[in-house]
Amino acid sequence: MKTLMGVTLALVPLAGWAASTEYQDIERGRYISVLGDCAACHTVNDDQPFAGGVPLETPFGTLVAPNITPDATTGLGRWDYEDFKAAMTEGVGKGGYHLYPAMPYPSYTLMNEEDIHDLWSFLQTVTPVENAIEANQLPFPFSIRSVMMGWNWLNFDERSFEPDPEQSDEINRGAYLVEGLGHCGTCHTPRNFMGGAGGDKFAGATIEGWYAPDITPNAHVGIGGWSEDELVEYLQTGGNRYGFASGPMADEVHHSSQHWTEDDLYAVARYLLSGAGLESSDWDHAPPEPLPEDNPQVTAGSHIYFDRCSGCHTPNGGGEEGIFPQLASNPLVNGDNTTSLIRVVLAGSRPVATDAKPTAPAMPSFAWNLNDEEIASVLTFVRNSWGNAAPAVSAGEVADMREELRGD
Ligand code: HEC
Ligand code: HEC
Ligand code: HEC
Repeated sequence: MKTLMGVTLALVPLAGWAASTEYQDIERGRYISVLGDCAACHTVNDDQPFAGGVPLETPFGTLVAPNITPDATTGLGRWDYEDFKAAMTEGVGKGGYHLYPAMPYPSYTLMNEEDIHDLWSFLQTVTPVENAIEANQLPFPFSIRSVMMGWNWLNFDERSFEPDPEQSDEINRGAYLVEGLGHCGTCHTPRNFMGGAGGDKFAGATIEGWYAPDITPNAHVGIGGWSEDELVEYLQTGGNRYGFASGPMADEVHHSSQHWTEDDLYAVARYLLSGAGLESSDWDHAPPEPLPEDNPQVTAGSHIYFDRCSGCHTPNGGGEEGIFPQLASNPLVNGDNTTSLIRVVLAGSRPVATDAKPTAPAMPSFAWNLNDEEIASVLTFVRNSWGNAAPAVSAGEVADMREELRGD
């Protein structure tokens, strides 16, 4: 096991608890915290792990992840194991208040007792930090916690993980990680109007101005064309020949999946690529026909592509393995949602650096030298060439993203 985010957390066991807890449980718990990516939301500053303070945009306003160090006044110092377990599996805080589902308890509810126990043992050993956080910064009426009772009634089932006896242990392990601790669906499954999971599982969703793509086994818009090795490479190093993780996925790789064991990564790959958690009718759709070559946007876009893009992405869209992503047969390029594509061309992108790939090349920004129409055309060309097929991009969509990026 690597250290969490490059820092070795001081082991300061609390009397009583530590006496009854094996060192191994604590180390296991540290790994559980990595699988659950608790740091993504509860750590701002790597020197003060789990001291809270990460602001999260929700459809209702801002929530700030609280301090979960064992500090007695501003953290979980007065909580016991049962309090913690209720937070993780029922979304209820000490004293009975309802947590907002920005804390991914709708996924963590699948955690088994041993994992919750070891995670708690580990959190007891984290250095206590005094850092008072006001988690609830939502506007009225969402600021009323009891509103959550209604939400839970509609959207949340307290569940335990049931292995599927028809599937291998490995696929069941993958299911436990993807559906539970890894909470992949919180970003990759479309939300309903109340922020609960709605729509087709893993079919892709917009989150904080990024698009978390389709991760179903569909070969055109999902990851069905990827091998297990390519999927593991993406989660472990932050990229493969189809592209690099940016935005929220870069954080996920950086804090979490790059530190997962290879066995766990392959379990995830096998589970996702097998489609075991899905109905085939959810993802097994025929790809659309590409737009014809004489479509005006495609023609205009091809000139821009050969002029501005082909030097890196190559004339046939094949890219350069490990350096420039392959745009041909790339699910992100074929996806219905163009948020990330437009964003990458407007703003450029620097991929995540991982232990396995410390430096990576960058995609330049074209916001200053291509107008909305030109960007729409070049992307329409890319989305309808070399085996790709997807609806045209409009100049209006590019203008909207330009506006959104200005607000960042
Ligand atoms: C996507 C962001 C996110 C992740 C990941 C996350 N949390 Fe949270 N967590 C939150 C937010 C936001 C709250 C506050 C919710 C509220 O006050 O209603 C919270 C609340 C909590 C609470 C209740 C604390 C209190 O004072 O009420 C505990 C305990 C907790 N989280 C533990 C964890 C653990 C352990 C993990 C990793 C397994 C984790 N969280 C992962 C966002 C997150
Ligand atoms: C905090 C939100 C978030 C979480 C949690 C998350 N993802 Fe992602 N994921 C994204 C975003 C956003 C992208 C798009 C990144 C980009 O465009 O560079 C992405 C991209 C991906 C891709 C690349 C798909 C493609 O077509 O390029 C894969 C594969 C993936 N995620 C798998 C996972 C798995 C497996 C998990 C759970 C272990 C997970 N993600 C958890 C937000 C998330
Ligand atoms: C100087 C080299 C270079 C040029 C020129 C360039 N790109 Fe890129 N492009 C990259 C790199 C490197 C990445 C990966 C960056 C990342 O994902 O963070 C990338 C990523 C992308 C992606 C995202 C692919 C994915 O799956 O994540 C798209 C789409 C893209 N480029 C389109 C274009 C278009 C359209 C043009 C021309 C207008 C262009 N690029 C010009 C280097 C370049």
